[in-house]
Order: sequence, then structure tokens, then C-alpha cells
Amino acid sequence: MPGITVKGWGIAVPDKVVTNDDLSVSLDTSDAWITERTGIRERRIGGTTSELATEAGRRAMDQAGLGAGDIDVVVLATTTPDALVPGTAATVQDALGIDGGAFDVNAACSGFVYGLVVSAGLAAIGSGRVLLIGADTLSRITDWDDRSVAILVGDGAGAVVIEPVEGPGDLLSWNIHADGSLRHLLKCDHGGYLYMDGKEIFRKAVRVVVDSAAEALADAGLTADDVDLLVPHQANLRIIQAACQRLGIPEERTSVVIDRYGNTSSASIPLALDDALQRGRITPGDRLLLTGFGGGMTWASAVLRWGG
Ligand code: UT7
Repeated sequence: MPGITVKGWGIAVPDKVVTNDDLSVSLDTSDAWITERTGIRERRIGGTTSELATEAGRRAMDQAGLGAGDIDVVVLATTTPDALVPGTAATVQDALGIDGGAFDVNAACSGFVYGLVVSAGLAAIGSGRVLLIGADTLSRITDWDDRSVAILVGDGAGAVVIEPVEGPGDLLSWNIHADGSLRHLLKCDHGGYLYMDGKEIFRKAVRVVVDSAAEALADAGLTADDVDLLVPHQANLRIIQAACQRLGIPEERTSVVIDRYGNTSSASIPLALDDALQRGRITPGDRLLLTGFGGGMTWASAVLRWGG
């Protein structure tokens, strides 16, 4: 069975920047509290999930030097689809002019890693190239009068092209997990707003991220010292720091973008990946540890070798 490699990447974020001070005008909060407790300084707000996903997908295809005819499947990780039906991936497929399958994956903030695993599985059984996008507009399901959620969220999208290759390829290990008995911790009912038990999620998140990242490293036959860059879900800087400390990965080898984007759910890992690439922090052959957690609860990790 063929393995996969990542060929191109791209992101899209709304133009509108909302700072902590902006939020403090209408909420009983402050820049100092938000920065200290979460690491977030500003976030981007606006657009629809399909608009952001389409833009990120287009950039990833351009960057890979590929056209619509070169892509065979669109996998969109999102927890904020434009509508209940149809799946938002279909809108993206149409906008990009792709002739192939298209479907959404909803694993909340673990969605991008789940999507990576699904895409690698498709490629292994002969699907051809997959455009994998993580896109969310949490702002659309946020009660902007609820400071427990409003200070955390942002909108954005990130995409990669997954290409089948001969041999084992670059996905060195992966795992996906869920515990639906914890679904009450983070939820949004039809027509409602996002609710989260932040404290409890925080506690659980650190444990599951560390366990699943360690599992992925062990499955790849690697240790923390072998990780060139940790690319974690960006929910709270303190969660990332606690996970780094427990895993034995220094923060200098971690990509952090939460200060600029907040929690963008399925988009946070590709946004952090893109930022590291833009800064020249990733070179071919580097081993990246991707790890995410979110509503469900779900959690998932993967070790990806960059560029073969
Ligand atoms: O993508 C995955 C989903 N989400 C997460 O991973 C979220 C995980 N959780 C978190 O990030 C943190 O739990 C929060 C940032 C949500 C909250 O931080 P915390 O350090 O757990 O704060 P807390 O809820 O314990 O609240 C501490 C204090 C309380 O006041 P008292 O009781 O000490 O007087 C809160 O009422 O801070 C108060 N507070 C705020 N103050 C200013 C709570 N929210 C705010 C706020 N601004 N936005």
C-alpha cells in the first residue's frame, strides 16, 4: 500500500483583527487577564467556513503547482459547517472546480489530525491526491456576551495537499481517540452557542495530549529528542506549555500562533504549521509531531516527516 507525503500548504484568515482591548469594551475582562490565562492577544473574525476553506485550499494547490484537475478528493475538517446539509466540502469542491469526492470530517479541534489520518487511508487504497483542509468559524456559534468563550475563539483555515507515494511515505505514526462520555464538556446544540467547561477541559486536555503524543512517538520508534517541531492544537498557551514540559519537548521546538489567532479549532494545527514554514523553521526530513484535542472529547496525534 502506498504511503503519503505533504506537497503544498496554504492558509486563509479574515482581515478583521479583534484585540483583547476590543473585547474588553463590551465584556468584563481585560487584556492582562486574557494574555496571562490564555496567551491570546488578538484573533481574526469574519467570513464563512467555505470561503476561508476555499482560499486556503487554493493557496495549497498553487503552492504545490497543482490545478483543480490534479486533486481527486476534498476532505474538510470542520465543526462549523456553513449548513447542516450539504457538507461544506461540497461547496469548496465546487468553488475550486475540483472533479472528485468531497466530504466533511467533524472531530472538533482534533479534526485536522483526524482528517490527515482519513486522507492517508484514502490515498493508501488508491484515491489519488487529497486536498485536506481544516477550517472553522467558531465566531459564528459564539455568544459574544459570554466571556468564558468569547475571549478564546477565532476564525481561520489551513490546507495541505496529500499525495500518495511509493513505499512507506512520511506519515510515520498516528492515533485517533474519543471518549463520548465527556461530550457535555464542550458542546453546541442546534441553533445555540458554544458552551465549554474550560477548567475540566484544561485538566483532561493536558493528560490526553501527552498520552497520545507519547503513543505516536513510541509507534514511530522515536523519543521526544527526535522531534524537530511540535505542532499542537492552539487552545491555551498554558496547555501547550504543560504538554511540552511533560513530554520533554522544549518550547523552542514548538510552533505557537495562539497569540495572533486564538482558538481556531480545526484550523489551528495547519495555521501553526504554515507559520513555522514561513519562518523557515521546518526543513525537509524534519519530524513533526502534530497533536490535537477537542469536543467529543476527541484527541489525536501523528508523526509526519516533512517533505520526504
Ligand atoms: O479547543 C479545546 C477547547 N477549549 C479549551 O481547551 C479551553 C481550556 N480551558 C481554558 O483555556 C481555561 O480554563 C480558561 C481560559 C477557559 C479559563 O482559565 P482559568 O485559569 O481556568 O480560569 P477560571 O475559569 O478558573 O477563572 C478564574 C477567575 C474567576 O474569578 P474568581 O472566581 O477567581 O473570582 C473567573 O470568574 O477568572 C474569572 N474569569 C475571568 N476574568 C476576566 C473567567 N473568565 C474571565 C475573563 N476575564 N474572560
